[in-house]
Amino acid sequence: MQPFDHSESIEPSDRTVGPAAAGDRAEVPNREALSVAIASGKGGTGKSFLATNLAIVAARSGSRCTLVDADYGLAADHLLLGVSPRRTIQDLVEGRAAPAACLHETPFGVRLVPGTTGVTELAALGRRELHSIARGLGEWCRESELLLIDAGAGIQSAVISTIVAADAVVLVVQSEIASLTDAYAVLKCLMRRPAPHPRFGVVVNRATSAEAALASFAKLADVARRFLGVSLHDLGHVSEEPAVTPRRLGQPPLVASHPECRTAVEIRRILVRLGVMTGGLLGRPRLPTEGIAERMIRQLPRPA
Ligand SMILES: Nc1ncnc2c1ncn2[C@@H]1O[C@H](COP(=O)(O)OP(=O)(O)OP(=O)(O)O)[C@@H](O)[C@H]1O
Ligand SMILES: [Mg+2]
Repeated sequence: MQPFDHSESIEPSDRTVGPAAAGDRAEVPNREALSVAIASGKGGTGKSFLATNLAIVAARSGSRCTLVDADYGLAADHLLLGVSPRRTIQDLVEGRAAPAACLHETPFGVRLVPGTTGVTELAALGRRELHSIARGLGEWCRESELLLIDAGAGIQSAVISTIVAADAVVLVVQSEIASLTDAYAVLKCLMRRPAPHPRFGVVVNRATSAEAALASFAKLADVARRFLGVSLHDLGHVSEEPAVTPRRLGQPPLVASHPECRTAVEIRRILVRLGVMTGGLLGRPRLPTEGIAERMIRQLPRPA
């Protein structure tokens, strides 16, 4: 179990999430963003809520942040970020748009690659489609400093293939046994894929108290360590926020409308901890064969 570090600051610092200096960038030709997938086993745990708000916090701290809505069946990030997308990930998969054409500016400084809703073909992605998405992720990563991937719930092969190539996976859980069990199932599927594996962090969402959240984290971390040999990082919790659920569409995400509320502070703290867990949220140099696209393609299950 990863010990909880109480020494970190609450606010993201420039050192942790700020943009790379222009000089640094020029010296490293193959820079690629740090990629972080936001995942869960059980649906509805708050992945999209957290992904959109984390992306806004990162963008507002000066990071060139791209959010990819990789919920291939029921995408919602464009609604949460107030965008009417012209091109979505479906256009990329079906060969109608290049990766760059799927990037949309949002009013919150984040760039979004929208997903699609109610398209069953996309919910059952095969090797060819995932190959296109891998190429897209590679290109979006090269254009960004932080790439967040809002993944679909569950353990379908397409979901696991998308998140296993990320540098880090944030499992969003709630303090209930079904949510923790399903998060464990995701971890198990990820660990069955060939190494290297991402680093894993956990956020307990809709927490009723810090103590209850820590107890839930400890349970999951314990079984992950004992049965999978994986060390999980405690990224903290997000409280149940009464102002979130009754919000109407068209209202800005919480960190934009209520930047000083407790939940917004907790979300900023999660970003700081993510920076600590990953060794900094800046883009890093990479060898051409080590990018997210190559890692994802190598991981795709072979046709039977
Ligand atoms: N901390 C919170 N406090 C109150 N409501 C929350 C909180 N986090 C999420 N919610 C609400 O819970 C619902 C589900 O959240 P969200 O859509 O982000 O889940 P999800 O994991 O992305 O779901 P899916 O698996 O369907 O993609 C939303 O109505 C959201 O506003
Ligand atoms: Mg979602």
